[in-house]
Amino acid sequence: MGSTISDSDLKSLIDAAKNAASNSYSPYSRFAVGAAILCENGEVYSGCNVENAAYGSANCAERSAIFTAISAGCREVRVVVIYTPTESPAAPCGACRQVINEFGPDAEIVSTCKTEKVIRSRLSDLLPHAFGPKNLET
Ligand code: THU
Repeated sequence: MGSTISDSDLKSLIDAAKNAASNSYSPYSRFAVGAAILCENGEVYSGCNVENAAYGSANCAERSAIFTAISAGCREVRVVVIYTPTESPAAPCGACRQVINEFGPDAEIVSTCKTEKVIRSRLSDLLPHAFGPKNLET
């Protein structure tokens, strides 16, 4: 898989995701997640998971970051970096894969953690045969 970004840009994204994870509101799961995304305009947006006493109302870090980016005018997601302060990296959940697909069907996904372990993939590998905007064209 060819990478979309340079090592130094990736490092900045990891720093942003790590910083976002430090703002995680996760009193119920105690599982902090931070995400940072690089958009087509070169801007970086980040977000954390935000839980709720009504558990189902929680929002994942990836979607927090994407909704912030879209709200700011971005329409194309190139790279998604996820950070969890764990021993092993965590890939995005199914709902987040679906949301990433809407804006970055070929986005590069990089899951990082507090060790050197990393998972690098493409959204199209994580969500093959995705349902997307084109399916609604009749
Ligand atoms: N979580 C994320 O933020 N991203 C994912 O892709 C998987 C799960 C959050 C949701 C919840 O706050 C906590 O992790 C435990 O599931």
